[in-house]
Amino acid sequence: MTACAAMAATAAAPVIAVDGPAAAGKGTLARRLAAHLGLPYLDTGLLYRAVGRRVLDAGADLRDPAVAEATARALSPADLDRPDLRSAEAAAAASAVAAQAGVRAALLDWQRDFGRAHGAVLDGRDIGTVVFPDAQVKLFITASAEERARRRFLELTAGGAVAEPAQVLAELRARDAQDAARAVAPMKPAEDAVLIDTTSLDADAAFARAVEVVQEKIGPRGRDLV
Ligand code: DC
Repeated sequence: MTACAAMAATAAAPVIAVDGPAAAGKGTLARRLAAHLGLPYLDTGLLYRAVGRRVLDAGADLRDPAVAEATARALSPADLDRPDLRSAEAAAAASAVAAQAGVRAALLDWQRDFGRAHGAVLDGRDIGTVVFPDAQVKLFITASAEERARRRFLELTAGGAVAEPAQVLAELRARDAQDAARAVAPMKPAEDAVLIDTTSLDADAAFARAVEVVQEKIGPRGRDLV
């Protein structure tokens, strides 16, 4: 059995929390880390996007807590495969429903069950603070708002969307503010999170730094794996 397979098979396989604001590079990094360590990966933002999308489809009010919670409780894995979850509209809807305590409670067990089964890398906003406060490794990935908006603009236009740079920046700032100011599970670094600022790091450099942190935190087992 390889070291990676051995790690994935052990009951005590680690949970790695990767939090941070939109477009800081946490998704790319978390996915790569998971593949490298042989751990399952969950993009928790997709859960909130899928809830927001379904509320929009139903023509309901995103700020109606009963509707949003019922939608979160009825979420199925197939909802995460929808091709329309990456739009700016889905992001804004996700941020709105994510501010509601009932929605967060409905999605909590889902995320915990995923991570507890075989260990996992999860990315989101509250993984290190609320979902897995005991995660063995906690990373908080950030970058300047301008750099994140530049990346998001390139991503949107590469996907064929029509976007305006100033509007992308404004939407990103509004979403950051909403995610950081909400009363329940606001976006913030866990006290024991390691911050990685990717403003002037490319994806490879950010990944190398993350691997270093994993090795420091999980010790010899981490060293076996990388
Ligand atoms: O990571 P993302 O951009 O796909 O997330 C979309 C929204 O979902 C984000 O603005 C806030 C919310 N979210 C959250 O509140 N908690 C998470 N763990 C993940 C996402």
